[in-house]
Amino acid sequence: MKQPKRYDMSNIQNLETSRSNASDRGYIVEVNNAEKKFKFEKSYVVALRKTSFSLKKGDSLALVGPSGSGKSTLLHLVGGLDKPSSGEIFLKGELISSMDDHNRGRLRKTLIGFVYQFHHLLPEFNVVENVMMPLRIKRVSKSKSYSEAVEILERIGLVDRIRNQPATLSGGERQRVAIARALVTKPSLVLADEPTGNLDRENAQKAFNLLIRLVEEFGSSLVIATHDMKLASSCNEIFSLR
Ligand SMILES: Nc1ncnc2c1ncn2[C@@H]1O[C@H](COP(=O)(O)OP(=O)(O)OP(=O)(O)O)[C@@H](O)[C@H]1O
Ligand SMILES: [Mg+2]
Repeated sequence: MKQPKRYDMSNIQNLETSRSNASDRGYIVEVNNAEKKFKFEKSYVVALRKTSFSLKKGDSLALVGPSGSGKSTLLHLVGGLDKPSSGEIFLKGELISSMDDHNRGRLRKTLIGFVYQFHHLLPEFNVVENVMMPLRIKRVSKSKSYSEAVEILERIGLVDRIRNQPATLSGGERQRVAIARALVTKPSLVLADEPTGNLDRENAQKAFNLLIRLVEEFGSSLVIATHDMKLASSCNEIFSLR
């Protein structure tokens, strides 16, 4: 098992440098002292204590830590679904943490694929329609979206199920479709929040292997929150939250 890499401020130099410099350093994600507090009655709940790390393009990082340590909160911040209370987050050198909703949405759409613990496939659409969805959102034509979706479903061995509704698939198959949907745009960054947490050991390993294989093939970077130390140890780096 790898030792978790420790991060402190000395790992991260001059984050206030310009956008192009940040990109030049080859980082896809830079988190600089990010903290998240939620207001609760008259006080605050600290969901994420001040946290700093950086991730190079093409690398994978596992976020580990007990329940409530802030893994999902941190993924939300990195994915631009929420803003930190203080600190900075750069995605490919762009300061996403202080962008307005419109620009955060734009960056999210162009850079990121998400995988969650529950598949979140749309029940009224079939498998291929679900996988096409992120491409259609990016305004890729219908025929190109279809052929790309079929191609990725071929790779993951589910091409004979493209007309199935999600409800007719097994849990492991649904999660593999969710992974295909997250990866179909070949995103620079994949964020996965306990993507195998709902699966038995065999299906968890299968889904994880698929995720790693596609991430490597597409040259994407990966941040994955997991309780599974065996899966975490397959990543380039492990980051422990307390
Ligand atoms: N919207 C919110 N409002 C108030 N508190 C929140 C909110 N979201 C998260 N928290 C709190 O912040 C802390 C961190 O939560 P988070 O979901 O990030 O933990 P986690 O590490 O993902 O846990 P798990 O392993 O159970 O998924 C928890 O104490 C949680 O209750
Ligand atoms: Mg969580």
